[in-house]
Amino acid sequence: MRRVPLDKVRAGAILARTIMTIDGKVLLAAGMEITEEYKRKLQANGITEIYIEDEISKDIHVPEVVREEIVNEAKQMVKAMMTKPSVKTSIDGRKVMEIVDKIISSILANKDIIANLCDIRSVDDYTFSHSVNVCILSLIIGIGLGYSRDKLRELGVGSILHDIGKVMVPKDILKKPYQLTSEEFEEIKKHTYYGYEILKNTSGISMTASYIALEHHERIDGSGYPYQLKAENIHKAARIVAVSDVYDALTSDRIYRKKLMPHEVIDYITSLGSHHFDQEVVDVFIRFIAYYPVGTAVILNTGEKGLVSKYNKKFPTRPTVRVVMGKDGKMLTKQKELDLAQNLEYRITDIWDI
Ligand SMILES: [Fe+2]
Repeated sequence: MRRVPLDKVRAGAILARTIMTIDGKVLLAAGMEITEEYKRKLQANGITEIYIEDEISKDIHVPEVVREEIVNEAKQMVKAMMTKPSVKTSIDGRKVMEIVDKIISSILANKDIIANLCDIRSVDDYTFSHSVNVCILSLIIGIGLGYSRDKLRELGVGSILHDIGKVMVPKDILKKPYQLTSEEFEEIKKHTYYGYEILKNTSGISMTASYIALEHHERIDGSGYPYQLKAENIHKAARIVAVSDVYDALTSDRIYRKKLMPHEVIDYITSLGSHHFDQEVVDVFIRFIAYYPVGTAVILNTGEKGLVSKYNKKFPTRPTVRVVMGKDGKMLTKQKELDLAQNLEYRITDIWDI
């Protein structure tokens, strides 16, 4: 299977993964042939990308780092908390902990933990999906840092609730699809201490979670908000969430901009490195994130084109590529699996827009 922008899906492609709404309903089931009508239905539901199975992507398996039903359950919980009239009474610390615990177990059940970015989400449900993804990515970093189960639980609860303060920010500002005025940006910034206040006063939620809400937009060099804290003065858990928050935001389609590819965002985060982020966190993060996720269509320096078919944990920029198109632009009758870690004369130069 491979991940394709909806507008690129050709007639006859088969849906490889069931698409659910955030409320747990099946929008389109795996195995269905994509028709123009289905494409319109998905578009109307804010879906911009899907997984398809076609001739060139047969037998390519995209691993899920967290089981899909757990991701859906977590999204529904976040949605319920963020849409109830009184957020203070809608957060059940025990329930959040239970779901976070399931996410931790699901991540740890992987033989190789690699965040492969396989969540299909609707642009309309951005905040809920984002909260869950930031939780998953932060936990992966926590695991990489050797955190105990208890410490992972605190990190997970805080990261899934990191933006909970947004419920107090006027909706028209949050949803504004274009440039914000400085007054509006000041309003948005307040979600950090709103979140801190909400979580500090909720039973069953640790202070670590409150600090994550308060400090996840602080930056190591003091250029963040709300208090321009620097380096060690920022809670370590908030420094972890700062990285996963930026990564997930930039790899997501938003109403006002197109998403970036994982390798572009990894380059961005590593180039800002120690100015904005905790260097130790960045180092762990890039060890566990797929530079070119399995199923990505790529162009090689030779002009040949193919799909990433296997990830190489030791050499993230050198996965195995299934070459499906020759230099001459003709589809190959016999595809070849090319391990870039073994064939150093080959390298990925670009993403193939197919
Ligand atoms: Fe935030």
